[in-house]
Amino acid sequence: MSTGYMKNKLHLISVLSALIRKKLFGRSTPLFISWEITNRCNYRCPYCSVWKDRSKEPSLQEILATIDELYKAGTRFISFSGGEPLLRKDLSAIIEHCQLRNMYIKVTTNGSLVEEHIDILKCVDFVLMTFNGPEPVHDAVRHKGSYSDVVRALKVLQKSKIPCGLNCVLTKGAVSHIDELIRFARAHGIPITFQPLEERSRSVDLKKLEPDRAAYGTAIQKLISYKRSGDALILNTLSYLNYIVPWPNTPQRVSCAAGSYFFRINARGDICACDRIKGRRYHLRSGTLRKVLTSSVPVVCTTPCWRNATMELNYLLMARFLSWETFRNILSRVVPISRSLRYRSRAIRKKNMLRSGVCCL
Ligand SMILES: C[S@@+](CC[C@H](N)C(=O)[O-])C[C@H]1O[C@@H](n2cnc3c(N)ncnc32)[C@H](O)[C@@H]1O
Ligand code: SF4
Repeated sequence: MSTGYMKNKLHLISVLSALIRKKLFGRSTPLFISWEITNRCNYRCPYCSVWKDRSKEPSLQEILATIDELYKAGTRFISFSGGEPLLRKDLSAIIEHCQLRNMYIKVTTNGSLVEEHIDILKCVDFVLMTFNGPEPVHDAVRHKGSYSDVVRALKVLQKSKIPCGLNCVLTKGAVSHIDELIRFARAHGIPITFQPLEERSRSVDLKKLEPDRAAYGTAIQKLISYKRSGDALILNTLSYLNYIVPWPNTPQRVSCAAGSYFFRINARGDICACDRIKGRRYHLRSGTLRKVLTSSVPVVCTTPCWRNATMELNYLLMARFLSWETFRNILSRVVPISRSLRYRSRAIRKKNMLRSGVCCL
């Protein structure tokens, strides 16, 4: 039996015990951590503002000590984003530390530095790369040459057999290229997720990038019918695709798992249930980490949340009853798979990529 299989099985047990702990004793478990490990970035995407923040980042020692505390408190899934996470010189030490604790590790990247950091990425469970459409569309919302960065990175990741996927932001350019995006995913045998544009900072003007409602509506209906017809490479669940139909208008309310099962850490080292909620924020140097993570934080969110990572976790963890759809979501996301089985055949590869949906969280 491979270690990958055992690892996934242990993670499934951790998820179930966290759910039981919460239901029976009301205790939170920081099962999932989403960590913006740096704000630095070699890109300047017009819909993003994180690269504008030059605040001091925590040191390697502080980060490693925090990972230890997180692990003790129950963290089993950790997702590193940014900024561009591969710009952090000590990322390999950080990843190795998580790997030694048997955590499920995901890295989200723009793809530009994948080739030179491929050895670090061989230690992670999933690499998610942003991919916003065909070359002119992708380059327009990033910069010239960024599409080639993704294609090159994809080749290297697949050659090294590192599980990877794409994440597409539904900008004005992307919505009219859904078929091309799906064709690209199929041609490369790589899973893909979609999420709408959202205002993450007042300093960013999204007007020029926003799709018009009709084009957006057509794109979502297309995604829904691809998904309904069993397209295994679209990792978003049907629940999420239906949830984002009304964008940018208020979506249906969904109970949020932030503060119960997942927490976020920003590049300054502030820890909170969710960065969208004002108030309670703690710094990882404050020594209150464990208390913060295990005390129940009631999350009252008044603005619509469009992030696929957050919403998919909500659908996975906050279901009130086990409907067939929830059961299918759980199966497709948490069912253990042996890493060694992954590349045996194209069919198995596709199936496993779908099942590794937890990586898009
Ligand atoms: C902030 S980036 C960090 C990781 C890496 N630099 C990258 O671009 O993949 C994480 C993801 O958030 C997406 N993103 C950034 N700003 C966004 C916004 N305003 N609305 C929706 N998605 C956004 C990016 O496209 C990317 O897929
Ligand atoms: S590459 Fe990622 S972090 Fe950098 S500016 Fe673009 S979205 Fe933001």
